[in-house]
Amino acid sequence: MFVAHWSEIVLAFAAVAAASPNRPGPPASPGWPGSPGHGNGVKVLLTNDDGWAELNIRAQNDALIAAGYNVVLSAPAENKSGTGSSTATPTVLNQTCEFNTCPVGSPPTGFNASNPRLNYVNAYPVDSARFGIQKLAPKFFWSKPDLVFSGFNVGSNLGPVIQISGTVGAACEAAKEGVPSIAFSAASGDQLSYTTLANKTAPSTLAARLYSALGIKFVDALLSSHSHGPILPPNVTVNVNYPATNASVCSQEKDFKYIFTRVLPDAGAVDVKTCGGTTLPDETTVVETLGAGCYVSVSVFNATTKADVNAETQEFVLRKLGKLLTCLPK
Ligand SMILES: *[C@@H]1O[C@H](CO)[C@@H](O)[C@H](O)[C@H]1NC(C)=O
Ligand SMILES: *[C@@H]1O[C@H](CO)[C@@H](O)[C@H](O)[C@H]1NC(C)=O
Ligand SMILES: *[C@@H]1O[C@H](CO)[C@@H](O)[C@H](O)[C@H]1NC(C)=O
Ligand SMILES: *[C@@H]1O[C@H](CO)[C@@H](O)[C@H](O)[C@H]1NC(C)=O
Ligand SMILES: *[C@@H]1O[C@H](CO)[C@@H](O)[C@H](O)[C@H]1NC(C)=O
Ligand SMILES: *[C@@H]1O[C@H](CO)[C@@H](O)[C@H](O)[C@H]1NC(C)=O
Ligand SMILES: *[C@@H]1O[C@H](CO)[C@@H](O)[C@H](O)[C@H]1NC(C)=O
Repeated sequence: MFVAHWSEIVLAFAAVAAASPNRPGPPASPGWPGSPGHGNGVKVLLTNDDGWAELNIRAQNDALIAAGYNVVLSAPAENKSGTGSSTATPTVLNQTCEFNTCPVGSPPTGFNASNPRLNYVNAYPVDSARFGIQKLAPKFFWSKPDLVFSGFNVGSNLGPVIQISGTVGAACEAAKEGVPSIAFSAASGDQLSYTTLANKTAPSTLAARLYSALGIKFVDALLSSHSHGPILPPNVTVNVNYPATNASVCSQEKDFKYIFTRVLPDAGAVDVKTCGGTTLPDETTVVETLGAGCYVSVSVFNATTKADVNAETQEFVLRKLGKLLTCLPK
């Protein structure tokens, strides 16, 4: 089975080499089935730090496509958890891609020959986002992506941890390149191969499908806003964290509530006015301490410093999200 994948990948490179220079270019959205969902063909570049062949990113890819988004996946060839904003020039594989999905000696970047929208980059999450924006988007979208969706990550990225998160690093890179982005992370789930998704009753599959649906709900809300102008303010990004899920607690999409938060606790902060106050709760408290409430944290932060932003910038995003957000009980 893996041998088949390898030969597919090798064949794909041959095809590209033959088709390359000076060809007029592909149709606007090759391979995009154009499903009439709410995603409405919005161009999404999907990345992560857990690797291109990991089940959660593939579940999110499935969910975005099913919702009508036009998706290209560009993610690290290996598990690159915890690599923050590290960057390097992609190199030839000196080991197999994660879960044996490409052989030693594979090129620095590559794709699945049966589905060229599934791409690996043998470097860091930042490099995967950059390759997706600069090289893949012109090929598949004929433009920049409308949105970079990073994650969701296996494991929370809350508070100071966002400084070392590769999921967050990739989202920040996109924002710095002028592409609106969101980093998503989840408290439950497992970093397993995408082939696990074939088992529809495995707990990791159930968690992956549920969190993927929560990601769609968030992106739908962000994009359906009636306000005009950019999707997000420049040079900022959004950190979304899902609480734990299992068969008995926070087990369905409707159980989850999205709460507007700040990255770091600061009792003296003057944040956007919402839920009857001007100091937002911090994301760690909301997701971990109040986890049984099934609260999803939503924090806006500076893509350069990864610090909280001012009230005006928070307000822009708060308005975009509109009715998605609810308040903590008093
Ligand atoms: C991925 O890398 C992180 C950081 O090195 C590590 O903690 C985690 O266990 C790795 N995951 C797998 C499935 O190897
Ligand atoms: C394999 O390549 C990685 C970079 O992709 C490098 O960090 C590592 O040292 C290499 N390992 C060996 C054994 O050459
Ligand atoms: C490549 O795509 C084919 C067809 O969708 C799929 O069967 C195969 O599992 C994929 N392999 C990888 C590594 O993505
Ligand atoms: C699927 O996952 C369930 C729950 O973990 C497990 O009991 C079952 O054996 C798995 N089925 C297959 C075919 O691996
Ligand atoms: C984002 O910040 C960089 C400096 O870090 C600046 O050069 C760039 O103009 C900013 N982009 C926008 C759209 O404001
Ligand atoms: C991000 O932080 C830097 C350094 O403090 C600042 O110059 C910049 O204006 C901030 N950007 C945003 C969008 O808040
Ligand atoms: C689900 O999580 C809750 C809260 O952590 C825990 O009390 C409960 O035992 C878990 N249930 C299952 C079926 O794992």
